[in-house]
Amino acid sequence: MSGFDVATTPEAPKVPKTKMEKEEAARLIVILESASLETYKVGKSKDARYQLLNCDDHQSILRRLNRDITDSRPDITHQCLLTLLDSPLNKAGRLQVYIHTGKGVLIEVNPHVRIPRTFKRFSGLMVQLLHKLSIRSVNGSEKLLKVIKNPITDHLPIKCKKICFSGDATETVHLPTWAKSLPKDESLVVSIGAMAHGEDSFADAYVDEKISCSQYPLSASVACGKLCCAMEDLWNVL
Ligand SMILES: C[S@@+](CC[C@H](N)C(=O)[O-])C[C@H]1O[C@@H](n2cnc3c(N)ncnc32)[C@H](O)[C@@H]1O
Repeated sequence: MSGFDVATTPEAPKVPKTKMEKEEAARLIVILESASLETYKVGKSKDARYQLLNCDDHQSILRRLNRDITDSRPDITHQCLLTLLDSPLNKAGRLQVYIHTGKGVLIEVNPHVRIPRTFKRFSGLMVQLLHKLSIRSVNGSEKLLKVIKNPITDHLPIKCKKICFSGDATETVHLPTWAKSLPKDESLVVSIGAMAHGEDSFADAYVDEKISCSQYPLSASVACGKLCCAMEDLWNVL
């Protein structure tokens, strides 16, 4: 498998490194839950290659594995990462993203990473990450993506509000107004389902409340976009 050169963003924000820095930095922490990121060896004998399982390229494999084809949607994680990491909020150093796959693999995303724009290149990068457990920048100075130990709660600040985004929460809020009531100088943790369908129960074990930010069912990427915009308003990031 050929390696992928992963670029860093040109105007890289400062990333809090120590536990104390992480505790003190008020950021938005997004956890993309139930992400469909799974590799599978495709092809025969010496030509076989690992690929990222997806509903477009691997229908017969998924059928053979007795899997629901519509569940295999790594493109949703790709879309969410582009929305989140391209946001002014991330460029201002106020965003941290984690990915939790449906198979339980937890991934820390360095805010400096520039996610490949095309799905094909993204797939190659994810295969490399899931096998090598980390991806370094071109000059090797920092890890841009890395598999870390569960549970996610070990990586979150002690003082922070943790919510789950859901299309069927009992409370629907106007996010920019809701955000004004958040404690100042504390991080906000939001878990969002990076899946096509299914119950939004992925974060029941660690969240304080569930909220809807629209009266309509949204794609995960649109939910990520609305959230970033609300936090940019709150923290005066233009
Ligand atoms: C396409 S939905 C998939 C799950 C959803 N329960 C379904 O069956 O359609 C992806 C994710 O977007 C978020 N989402 C969708 N609609 C939302 C809304 N109105 N408010 C907040 N988050 C929403 C949730 O986190 C959800 O898990």
